[in-house]
Amino acid sequence: MEEKTVYNMPGYSWNINEKKYQDFYRQSIKDSDLFWETQAKQLVQWKKSWTKVQNWDFYTGTIRWYEEATLNVSENCLDRHLQKRADKIAIIWEPDNPDEPTRIIRYAELHRQVCKCASVLSDLGVRKGDRVCIYLPMIPEAAVCMLACARIGAIHSVVFGGFSPESLAGRINDSKSKILITADQGLRGGRYIPLKANADKACHQTPSIEKVLVVQRGKQDINWVAGRDVWYHEQMEKASDMYDAVEMDAEDPLFILYTSGSTGKPKGIVHSSGGYLVYTACTFKYVFDYREDDVYWCTADVGWITGHSYIVYGPLSTGATVLMFEGVPTYPDASRFWHVVDKHRVSVFYTAPTAIRALIARGNEFVTCTDRSSLRVLGTVGEPINPEAWEWYYRIVGKQRCPVIDTWWQTETGGIMITSLPGAMNMKPGSASLPFFGNVPAIVDDKGNVLQGEANGNLVLTRSWPGQMRSIYGDHERYVKMYFSTYPGNYFTGDGARRDKDGFYWITGRVDDVINVSGHRIGTAEVESALVLHESVAEAAVVGCPHEIKGQGIYAYVTLCDGYEPSDELQQTLRGVVRKEIGGLAVPDVIQWANALPKTRSGKIMRRILRKIAANEVESLGDISTLADSTVVEKLIIQKKQQK
Ligand code: PRX
Repeated sequence: MEEKTVYNMPGYSWNINEKKYQDFYRQSIKDSDLFWETQAKQLVQWKKSWTKVQNWDFYTGTIRWYEEATLNVSENCLDRHLQKRADKIAIIWEPDNPDEPTRIIRYAELHRQVCKCASVLSDLGVRKGDRVCIYLPMIPEAAVCMLACARIGAIHSVVFGGFSPESLAGRINDSKSKILITADQGLRGGRYIPLKANADKACHQTPSIEKVLVVQRGKQDINWVAGRDVWYHEQMEKASDMYDAVEMDAEDPLFILYTSGSTGKPKGIVHSSGGYLVYTACTFKYVFDYREDDVYWCTADVGWITGHSYIVYGPLSTGATVLMFEGVPTYPDASRFWHVVDKHRVSVFYTAPTAIRALIARGNEFVTCTDRSSLRVLGTVGEPINPEAWEWYYRIVGKQRCPVIDTWWQTETGGIMITSLPGAMNMKPGSASLPFFGNVPAIVDDKGNVLQGEANGNLVLTRSWPGQMRSIYGDHERYVKMYFSTYPGNYFTGDGARRDKDGFYWITGRVDDVINVSGHRIGTAEVESALVLHESVAEAAVVGCPHEIKGQGIYAYVTLCDGYEPSDELQQTLRGVVRKEIGGLAVPDVIQWANALPKTRSGKIMRRILRKIAANEVESLGDISTLADSTVVEKLIIQKKQQK
């Protein structure tokens, strides 16, 4: 791959410059205990200090940070700001419909609401260690409920509002959540999302749920289950606004967040309280060059890790003003992001490449008609950013005044791992750049040999960091197998990467059977399992394919049972099955009928070949001699042409 242009940073007094980055990075590696101890003292308020900073073993998957220390995460995000920042705005909420009023919540008010909500949950029987499932739209109550769980010491499990009732039920059952918090409805791009109706359907299959707490977002009529359903606003009105934060061990779980893997059902990623908070606060401060008067906007949904770490915990523990947006980038039109930036004088803006590409497609006028002079730093996350999108973001949106920070990380890492830092390094469009303090990535070949210098291979992390996930909920063995067994002694990311001559990392995408659709992780196995539920489907194989806006699209090969004929109608039915089982985000972009699938003699589907056909790269299919029947490939290529 040819190296792209290197941009020098525009002149500005950044918190970290090139020399500082290098010195700081060296120190953080040389004396990791000292580095993470200093950060922990500076960024977090502890009730009791630690006896040991780090204690981990990548062979057994034992990860412990700040041993024996205690704290409360909600107290860190709220109480400790009250002396200096009681009147500072914590959350600016911008509704889907620009004509609806903005909500402004100051730190004192957020503290009051969280205490009340903790009282409500406590009255409903929630205790330390209980699981609470949160299935809410992008409204401030989502953050309030997360922080209220943290205050009690309950473990939240947020489920993205785009997931179907079946997916929601699966996550509730895996975590055995006691309470479900939802809203009567969600609103996105002018469309209602029937969250309560979905929750009702899910609750037919969730014996652990005792109460459903319902936030009122709209005015739609909803079904009500007497004895089980409770209105949030009614409970909040009468709840006490005093709730003492529970003292938690640094290693007590703060939350579970489900994400897709290459096999089986989604896994419940478990994050800690102490280490996670130190890591999110630290990365937030340095990566976004945080200043006290910043207005910071991360466009992610709280249903994903980006929302957890960089809408709620990182920024609020730092005392920042966070903008929370209910809507979508293109509603009412493609200027919406930039109108919101101007309206609230947003200075730091963090979004995903897929949103950038969707906006490029609408044309520059939607951007250039706005001012955007408040912007200082632009960030991206979720998938590799193609250099064209990077250029557009840098030139058109940022007017070449703002560094573009490409942040690589994962649900499992809790926070940003490889990234550019404003002012601290040159920018190479498309490269996530250099490791964040304390991290030592490495590139290994398929046999696990560590490659030096310029290299291309599999990305691993060779040492722990405080924000690292601690386990898969209820299945520690799977955790060890998934992350620590492929390259023993290292954490395996599942990503491929290239390191260039300057030591910059270029993430090349997943090397496992996970696809990244609009920055959302989808396990191919999950989509296949959904498709084969339908009586017509004999076999299904799902792969990723290039997609102009989404980065990757979902391409499904389907073999029908005898007696079923391919038809457009059947395609729609199958799409509907996936929508019902997983949610709209997993619906295949393409369903190709296949008489048979390419398999090895031992019966293993050769996905490599399916990926090539899906990407129209049939000239470079590679070796197909190991196939049980190599004529299958030719037939698939012909079938693809015929289906168009
Ligand atoms: O493949 C990488 C890609 O997203 C995956 C993690 O997805 P998820 O756990 O849903 O978390 C997304 C938000 C942190 C990674 O394994 N990815 C994430 N950020 C980048 C990226 N790929 C390239 N460049 C990035 N900046």
